[in-house]
Amino acid sequence: MELKRIVLGVTGGVAAYKAAELARLMVKDGLDVQVVMTEAARHFVGAATFQAITGHPVFTDLWDERVDNGMAHIDLTRGAEAILVAPASADFMAKLAHGRADDLLSTLCLARDCPLLLAPAMNRQMWEAPPTQRNAAQLKADGVTLLGPASGEQACGEVGFGRMLAPEDLLEALDARFQPKRLSGLKVLITAGPTFEPIDAVRGITNSSSGKMGYAVARAALEAGAEVTLISGPTCLAPPREAKTVAVSSAQEMLAAVEAAADAADIFIGVAAVADYYVLNRSEQKIKKDAHILTLELAPNPDILANISSRPKPPFCVGFAAESENLEEYAELKRRRKHLPLIVANDVTEAVGADAVQLILLDEAGKHVLEQADKRTQARRLIAHIAQLYNTRYQ
Ligand code: C5P
Repeated sequence: MELKRIVLGVTGGVAAYKAAELARLMVKDGLDVQVVMTEAARHFVGAATFQAITGHPVFTDLWDERVDNGMAHIDLTRGAEAILVAPASADFMAKLAHGRADDLLSTLCLARDCPLLLAPAMNRQMWEAPPTQRNAAQLKADGVTLLGPASGEQACGEVGFGRMLAPEDLLEALDARFQPKRLSGLKVLITAGPTFEPIDAVRGITNSSSGKMGYAVARAALEAGAEVTLISGPTCLAPPREAKTVAVSSAQEMLAAVEAAADAADIFIGVAAVADYYVLNRSEQKIKKDAHILTLELAPNPDILANISSRPKPPFCVGFAAESENLEEYAELKRRRKHLPLIVANDVTEAVGADAVQLILLDEAGKHVLEQADKRTQARRLIAHIAQLYNTRYQ
């Protein structure tokens, strides 16, 4: 398969050092990255860094003789899927908004026939200044995609909008553009992570689910064009920026949040590792240590997925079955018991917390194996399968 080629433009700003990390992530993601820097960017970070990371010479000059036909302004974007300028300075945005082309990068942006994405990065006041806002609006009207800026602490010590989005977020936004919009217009509800069942004011029962799979499924659904609500138990993960995320703790809280969102959902994917029991005799105060045997009474939690799938008009419900033995048999039984069109079986002894997993999809048509891959790839494959089943059923 031919690598997707992206031109990464770097303009002059403190955030230029983050562009090196972005380039590294892009290469790791399998993209062919051609870096073009402005003269100002070279004051912040060296071309040699990008050259080493991408394996390609870096270009700055419109008159660079390394391009055979002297047509660097056209040649470098030929066959490119997109130009991503990160960081995009206020000055560079002003230039683009007016169609100026006085250096290689601005010329490439003007002479392109591929999408242009900008990651603005500048001081808060520069971002808020009326001319910058005018330019940003003009660029959007011209079909340019603006990624960010984010709000937060800035290099100058001020706090506000103007920070470049994190390299991971930029890569995610770029990646999302390449994914087919299979779930466009659909609302997808997802549960993720473990639940936490309190024993007393500070202790509780939980499990080792990291939430990675559920969050990856949420990202893949977003990339496929869905509107996503993510109901998450406690995890250490950053929620996907574009999802509506509801943080919950116990299974009962998760059920309430799911019920509140389920009516509007077209698809419900239960990825959460919901605790099977909660503590009936929980203490409001911290239990004091003494010499007696402490007995916890455990009562079964509601089955959130079964609750939703047994509604008269359920959304298209997808379950996960983490098993440590008889994987397919147990998962298929679960699928039938919970009335699910699709269940995703994974081997709990290798799946929990891991980055790469094998998944087995079980539906009415039988079994489909998703060979071992990272959770993001698996989530995308799963979403493709769900979209196919959903569309066959409802369209
Ligand atoms: O029965 P089991 O817990 O193995 O089923 C797993 C599937 O059911 C997962 O999709 C999980 O999110 C969902 N589930 C749930 N509520 C529970 C238990 C499981 O939604 N109380």
